[in-house]
Amino acid sequence: MINILGSRRVQRLLFFVAATVTLFYLMTLLFPEKKDEISPLVFSGRPPTRFVAPGRRKNLKLENVKGFFLQDLSETKEDIFNVFQTRDFGLIQQEYSIDITNKLPPNATQWDYFRAEILRLDQERLTKRLGVLGYKVLYLFRPSESWHHRGESYYGRESWDCLWTRQDGNGTAQWIDAELTPTGIEGAKYLHKTWNKHLGNTNLAIPELFLSSPLSRAADTLIHSFNLTFRNPRPPSPVFVEFLRESFGVDTHNSRRSYTTLKKKYPLFEFEEEFSEFDPLWTSYRDETDSSVLHRAKIFLENLFLRRNEMFIAVATHESIIKAILEAIGHRQFPIPVGHMIPVVIKGSWLQTGEPRTEAERYKMFYKKNRNCTELDPVTDPDAEPEVDMDEFD
Ligand SMILES: *[C@@H]1O[C@H](CO)[C@@H](O)[C@H](O)[C@H]1NC(C)=O
Ligand SMILES: *[C@@H]1O[C@H](CO)[C@@H](O)[C@H](O)[C@H]1NC(C)=O
Ligand SMILES: *[C@@H]1O[C@H](CO)[C@@H](O)[C@H](O)[C@H]1NC(C)=O
Ligand SMILES: *[C@@H]1O[C@H](CO)[C@@H](O)[C@H](O)[C@H]1NC(C)=O
Repeated sequence: MINILGSRRVQRLLFFVAATVTLFYLMTLLFPEKKDEISPLVFSGRPPTRFVAPGRRKNLKLENVKGFFLQDLSETKEDIFNVFQTRDFGLIQQEYSIDITNKLPPNATQWDYFRAEILRLDQERLTKRLGVLGYKVLYLFRPSESWHHRGESYYGRESWDCLWTRQDGNGTAQWIDAELTPTGIEGAKYLHKTWNKHLGNTNLAIPELFLSSPLSRAADTLIHSFNLTFRNPRPPSPVFVEFLRESFGVDTHNSRRSYTTLKKKYPLFEFEEEFSEFDPLWTSYRDETDSSVLHRAKIFLENLFLRRNEMFIAVATHESIIKAILEAIGHRQFPIPVGHMIPVVIKGSWLQTGEPRTEAERYKMFYKKNRNCTELDPVTDPDAEPEVDMDEFD
C-alpha cells in the first residue's frame, strides 16, 4: 500500500486530481451557476409556481374585479348587449376617488381614470403580506366570421357536425384552419375603427401585449382589429400561444398549420417557446372535453401572472376558451358573439395557506368519446375508450 502511494506516478496523479478539484471550486466561486430564469415566453407549459411562490403559498387565486365593466354586472342582459354599440365597450361611467382625479388633467377621459385606478390597485403588489401578484386587463376577442360559419348554416347543424365539419372543404369553400370571410375581415376592420374612436385620443389603456391562438382566423382578427403592420416604432410582436386555440375535436377548422407555414404566413408574430412543428393536439376522431379547456385556460392565466408584467393585454382566442377564462376567474357567463370582444379585469394573488385550493391538484387532458352521430358519422368508433393524456401538473 505504502509502496503504491509512494510511487512517483501516483503522486503526480493525486496532485493532478487535487488541482482539478481546486480549480473547479474556484470557477464555481467566480462564476456562480445562474438560477433558472423564468422565461416570459411560455404560456402553455408548466406555470413556474414552485419557483416563485413565497413560503408555503403554492396556489394562485384568480378573480374577476367587478365594478369596471357592465359585462360583469348581474343585471346586464347579455342577449341584447352589443359591445360595439355600448359606450366605451361597456366601461362604467363613474367617479373615481379624489387621489385619482387630482393626478389627472381636467380633460381626462373615463379610460384615463380607469387606467390610473388599475395602476393604483396594482401597487398592492408592493405590500408583500397581501400576496398580490398584480392586476391585469384582458381584452378577449372572438374571431370574426370565417368559412366554417358559412358551412354550418349552409348544411344545417346535424349534417355539419357529423359529416361536413370533418372534411377539409367542399371544393368551393375551404374549412381546414378556416380563414375569415370578406365579411369577417370587414368586421375586424370595423373594430379597429371603433377602437380608435373610443381610445384613439387617450392611447392609454391600449394593449401592451398581443397574444393569439395559432388558428388563422384569430391571428387575422387581431391583425385587422389593431392594424398590426410593420411600422416604426414597431408595436410589440404578437405571440402565438398553443393553449389559446379553440377546443380541439374532429372539426378540421380547429386544426392548426405547421410552425413553418405560420412563420411564413405571419412574419410579424413570435412563437411561445417549444411551439411544435406539427399540430400536437388535433385528431380526426375525438373531441376535447370542457374540463380540459378549463384546464388550459387556467394554465394560460397562471403563466400570464407569473411570467409577464404587462397589464393591458389583447388576446385573440375562441368561444370555448373565453367561456373557460370567465369561469376560471368567477366572472358571470357572458356569451360572446362571433367577431365581438369582452374586457375583463383580473386580480391574481397567492392563496393563503389553509385556504382550500381553487383548483384540482392534478390536471389531465381529456377527450370525449364521440359525438351523438349515427348514420352520418363515418369516422368515430363508438367502442373506442376515451383517451386520457398523461399530461399532469402539480
Ligand atoms: C388635455 O389637455 C392637454 C393640455 O392641457 C393636452 O395636451 C391633451 O392632449 C388633452 N387630452 C385630451 C384627451 O384631450
Ligand atoms: C360549399 O359550401 C359553401 C358554404 O360554405 C356553399 O356556399 C357552396 O355552395 C358549397 N359548395 C358546393 C360544391 O356544395
Ligand atoms: C394601418 O397602418 C398603416 C401603416 O402604418 C397605415 O398606412 C394605414 O393607414 C393604417 N390603416 C388604418 C385603417 O388605420
Ligand atoms: C347523446 O345521446 C344520448 C342518448 O340519446 C343522451 O343521453 C346524451 O345526453 C347525448 N349527448 C350529447 C352530448 O348530446
